[in-house]
Amino acid sequence: MLDQRRLPADVVYHTCTDYREVARAIKDMVIRGAPAIGVAAAMGAALGVLHSTARTVEELQAEFRTICTTLEATRPTAVDLFWALDRMRKRFEAALAHAVQDQSQPELDGVRQALVEEAQAVHREKRTVDEAIGRFGAELLPASGTVMTQCNAGALATAGLGTALGVIRVAIEQGRKLHVLVPETRPYLQGARLTAWELSQDGIPLTLITDNMVGHFLKGGQVGAVVVGADRIAANGDTANKIGTYQIAVLAREHGVPFYVAAPLSTLDLSIRSGEQIPIEQRPAEEVTHIGGVRVAPPVKVANPAFDVTPARLIAAIITERGVARPPYVQSLQRLMDAAAPARASH
Ligand code: MRU
Repeated sequence: MLDQRRLPADVVYHTCTDYREVARAIKDMVIRGAPAIGVAAAMGAALGVLHSTARTVEELQAEFRTICTTLEATRPTAVDLFWALDRMRKRFEAALAHAVQDQSQPELDGVRQALVEEAQAVHREKRTVDEAIGRFGAELLPASGTVMTQCNAGALATAGLGTALGVIRVAIEQGRKLHVLVPETRPYLQGARLTAWELSQDGIPLTLITDNMVGHFLKGGQVGAVVVGADRIAANGDTANKIGTYQIAVLAREHGVPFYVAAPLSTLDLSIRSGEQIPIEQRPAEEVTHIGGVRVAPPVKVANPAFDVTPARLIAAIITERGVARPPYVQSLQRLMDAAAPARASH
């Protein structure tokens, strides 16, 4: 894992050899961004089973439950984490049933191998998914001009091109002349530290702004679109994303700028009707009182919700790997979820 806490100053990689290390890395934000958290969790579950010392099916089942619970207890908002672990659970059950029938190899070896394969498949698929999101989304962006984003929904946050930044990348590859306006994204500074780094590494033109400049720039008329990622999208289209996203959406509506969400279907949570049911992670006060380890506020009461929820009515479209959902989202998201194969049409 590339340690995202150390960017942009240092490029440091960690190798995790134990599922508990993976869980700690997710919790401490060594790795972050909804799809990347999901891939890490899948890898963590595979690592746990691969290194398990269980000798019986029952022992492995008990250990696997602990592995999944440990990984699930890391971050509550990004549904990709739970999606990836559900997938690993299904594969575990299927491999176990198969192993019990097939006596040709020690039964637990087959399960170990199956979980490694599944985690690698989750990783591989994310790449293709980002490319498809990029292709669908690029068509919505202007031929030239400025596009605003929030946080980091780029390659650092997924296992491919990125979601919101994937859309921008594909649009630029297709010849659109885009400039990216990057809010710093206090308190954790994913915009300043990660998006600014990622885009500049790739030679994509950007301007870094502070979060309180968002209204000024949207009012100025130069921003052609806003495109952000998501951590959890409810059945009605309400979208949880990094704190600050909601105020950008309100300001975008005020100034007639289309506001797009780009996310894989693994980020949809159709089991909840609206954003009110999305759990919002509360993070430590030090992220607000300190910047880069330096105290900038007195020791007072602090609030630090890591995400906010943008109501569906402010979202012009939700871009997924199976196409673009438009309001009303209850129907369009369900249709995309039910669609068997990737399609090029708008829904
Ligand atoms: O707290 P983080 O950095 O994990 O939050 C990340 C975001 O809010 C992203 O916008 C979201 O996960 C989408 S990443 C493709």
